[in-house]
Amino acid sequence: MIKHTTLMFGLVALASHLNAAPTFTIDASHPSGNVSPILYGLMTEEINHGYDGGLYAELVQNRAFMDDTNAPVHWSVVNGPESGATIALDPANPLNDRLTTSLRVNISNAAKGSPAGVANEGYWGIPVQPRTTYHAAIWVKAAASGMGPMTVSIVSEDGGAVYAAGKIPQIGTNWNRFEVTLKTGKVAPTDSAKFALTLDQPGTVWLGLVSLFPPTWNNRPNGLRKDLMQMLVDLKPKFLRMPGGNYLEGDTVDTRFDWKKTIGPIEQRHGHQGPWGYRSTDGLGFLEFLEWCEDMKAEPVLAVYAGYSLKGAHINAGPDLAPFVQDALDEIEYVTGGTNTQWGAERAKDGHPAPFPLHYVEIGNEDWFDKSGSYDARFAQFYDAIKAKYPQLKTISTIGDDQPANTRVKSRKPDVIDGHYYRSVEDFLQMSPDYAKNYDRNSPEIFDGEWASYESSFPPWDDRSKQLAPTPDLRAAIGDAVFMAAMERNSDLIKMQCYAPLLVNVNPGARQWRPDLIGYNAISSYGSPSYYTIQMFSRNVGDEILPVSPSDTEIQGCATRDSKTGEIFIKLVNPGVTNAVVKIEIKGVDSLASKGTATTIQGSPEDTNSINHPRNVVPVATTLRDVKSEFPYTMPPQSIVLLKLKSR
Ligand code: AHR
Repeated sequence: MIKHTTLMFGLVALASHLNAAPTFTIDASHPSGNVSPILYGLMTEEINHGYDGGLYAELVQNRAFMDDTNAPVHWSVVNGPESGATIALDPANPLNDRLTTSLRVNISNAAKGSPAGVANEGYWGIPVQPRTTYHAAIWVKAAASGMGPMTVSIVSEDGGAVYAAGKIPQIGTNWNRFEVTLKTGKVAPTDSAKFALTLDQPGTVWLGLVSLFPPTWNNRPNGLRKDLMQMLVDLKPKFLRMPGGNYLEGDTVDTRFDWKKTIGPIEQRHGHQGPWGYRSTDGLGFLEFLEWCEDMKAEPVLAVYAGYSLKGAHINAGPDLAPFVQDALDEIEYVTGGTNTQWGAERAKDGHPAPFPLHYVEIGNEDWFDKSGSYDARFAQFYDAIKAKYPQLKTISTIGDDQPANTRVKSRKPDVIDGHYYRSVEDFLQMSPDYAKNYDRNSPEIFDGEWASYESSFPPWDDRSKQLAPTPDLRAAIGDAVFMAAMERNSDLIKMQCYAPLLVNVNPGARQWRPDLIGYNAISSYGSPSYYTIQMFSRNVGDEILPVSPSDTEIQGCATRDSKTGEIFIKLVNPGVTNAVVKIEIKGVDSLASKGTATTIQGSPEDTNSINHPRNVVPVATTLRDVKSEFPYTMPPQSIVLLKLKSR
């Protein structure tokens, strides 16, 4: 826990001290604009096992045997002293034309009390929780009739302990799907378990798809992991930028996020190679993205593939691009169309008759990487088609305010431009005081669609960052906080912002990028100091921007007011290594309640959270007394403070 000397940091009563202190002035009589009601949101993609082995609750890794064409990776043989089996991929016996191989299990020897079969190691272990119901769904067929029962169980790694078990009574010679419910009893939680399918008779069976789900958020079938969803919901996001990132573009045109291939029953989803070095099951497919938004009470900010992929291929604007534009229109119809439309009907068939809200469509991702210069024309073709059919939708260009103005889209005026800011703490400290201050308010709205502060001397894409902890420390949260304060001060123009990446599986080999906001393994999860900082910002924001002017201080911050309740939210960041006394001066309020609250995140720069120490750095709330229109406040070193005051 944080060693807190909070009492020392409260109000300091000495008037002489007050006069000498630097000031942080808030002008409550002249709001400079309205806070965007959708300022805080989320951005994710399939990176760091964010979905498979992360948010998507499926527990079986390589469930359809498509991960590696050479071997059934993540699967092993279950043999006893008197039983034996062999396993092999069998493309000659596929489940269907989408899942193009199966796993053949040849049991040479097995008997009652001496079973043989196959086991899956899960995503770095199968998590076992006490008194929990798991749902298995298994596509299987046998070479000859009379095979069964098959035991389906969650067992310890050495097979010695059985945590839960069920049975498939009889396996036929044609492909069939069986559902099995597994219930654990009073067991100690562990992730050192595997999922086993065994028989106690010789013979041959083929497995086409093997799935195992724990309870999911809102009990959705094919749903999302509960602990991670709780953490996301706690951020109160107003939107989800989906489905990426680089994941949208893919390395090649063929490996883009091809949304139509990610809907329908999971056994009809081929999956695809992602750009981050591993294959996606597409289990968390397009409809699951939309339901995820719905479950968070957030809106999708839909990124559509715009004809550019990471390894440099681009589709020429004109007839070549037309099918991709049509795909985007179909995609929008799938999201918003009534059930009387082709794609709205498809959505209903997939289980969600009601349309989803949609206001923003992003055209591509980071298209400034496309050195062919084709983006302007590609953007125009998408823009014209989208505006013709959906004039109410706002289009987002992916060449944002972080790129030179002369490289941006010119042939059309995008409604919004998306800038990405991965910067060091020092860079953020330097740029934040003036960020967006002098932007032309008639220019397109701004979306900071990816940003994060890194505390090391090398950036996230540098290989050396792999040696560091997956999630950032308190020092990075300081960088995040000053940038968020800048965005909040300018949120009349900066309509949306989201940290990236959001999720990281902390097991060795699971990650491609750091820093990331939320870490987890198969059974536990935690928020970084940056996570709690974002939570503090996103949950405490008014609707009016109050101008602030810090003087003679390195403290940065912002202020907003809730126009209905009069509550004032002041966010302050002390990046220094010593206490900072500052005179808070609030101009233009008739009176203030003498009691308020101060919530503080602080510690040593390198303090952090981890799987084993998940709550080392968390916000701590204290009562603030003797609040007046001028009062001194002492901020601890390396701290982020939220002051909540009631004005009348
Ligand atoms: O967030 C990681 C990556 O950074 C995103 O996929 C990409 O858009 C950006 O370059």
